[in-house]
Amino acid sequence: MKDTLIQYGVAVDPREMVEPPDPDELEVDPKTPGIDDPAYMSRRRWIFALTRKHRLEGLGPPVFEYMPEEARLWADVSAQLAPLHDAHACALYRKAKHELAITSAEVPQMRHLSDRLRAATQTHLIPAEGSLAYRTFYRYIAARGFPVTQFLRHPSHPEFTPEPDMIHDCLGHVPPFMDRDYAELITLLGKAAAAATDGGHVLMLKRFSWFSIEFGLVEEAGDVKVFGAGILSSTGEIPNSLFSRAVTRRPFVTDVVVNTDYDPTYMQTQLFVAPSLKFLRAEAEALVKKLAIKVT
Ligand SMILES: [Fe+2]
Repeated sequence: MKDTLIQYGVAVDPREMVEPPDPDELEVDPKTPGIDDPAYMSRRRWIFALTRKHRLEGLGPPVFEYMPEEARLWADVSAQLAPLHDAHACALYRKAKHELAITSAEVPQMRHLSDRLRAATQTHLIPAEGSLAYRTFYRYIAARGFPVTQFLRHPSHPEFTPEPDMIHDCLGHVPPFMDRDYAELITLLGKAAAAATDGGHVLMLKRFSWFSIEFGLVEEAGDVKVFGAGILSSTGEIPNSLFSRAVTRRPFVTDVVVNTDYDPTYMQTQLFVAPSLKFLRAEAEALVKKLAIKVT
């Protein structure tokens, strides 16, 4: 147990450890497809309890035996996204997805992906039962861990989930962690957000993350490519982000980005294009310095 705790070691708030996981604690958005499907909700509760226990006890992501309908859903969605990734994802994402052998043939195991990330960039994945309080979330990131869900959306709506699920996390967030600059960028944002005491500064860091990590575009050899996880994990957002006339695409200027609001509940209408990942990393460092947030 101790080795595991050190391996996946993140300081968890002791207040979060007082109660044993209760499968009935799961609360889902009322718009969740499948909310009236008892078998689906029972599976969600089971995954909720298991991943919560693994998170609170520092055990790393559990290895899952995925059910046939989950494997089918994964195969369908990931096969639809694959040609979009080949055509429109940034180079570091395509390289990492290949290195991690993420394909539609099999649902990837977060446990194994976490081991690969640890070897490549000393980062790792934290099992998350769902969305976490933002300070908890950023504290994990500050310690080079990234919280990921392991449940899948309901098969009746393969294109939609009101909250991040395994498909969003695995196809959006996980691959870029194979890149050193990306790992350092997100770790810095996590450290700064975890350390910030001014609510205005936290909001600026959240906006910086939203318009880069979650919904960023990046220039590559004169083309605009997709970088953000929210775009990369959505068959609708990839073409929307690059080709829709309803979307404005502006150069990533940090002072503008950190003062721009976003609405996570709709298709995005304003996006920013960064010249490179190294640029984003340097901009994040400059922002943290400007806000005088002490990070170690
Ligand atoms: Fe996300």
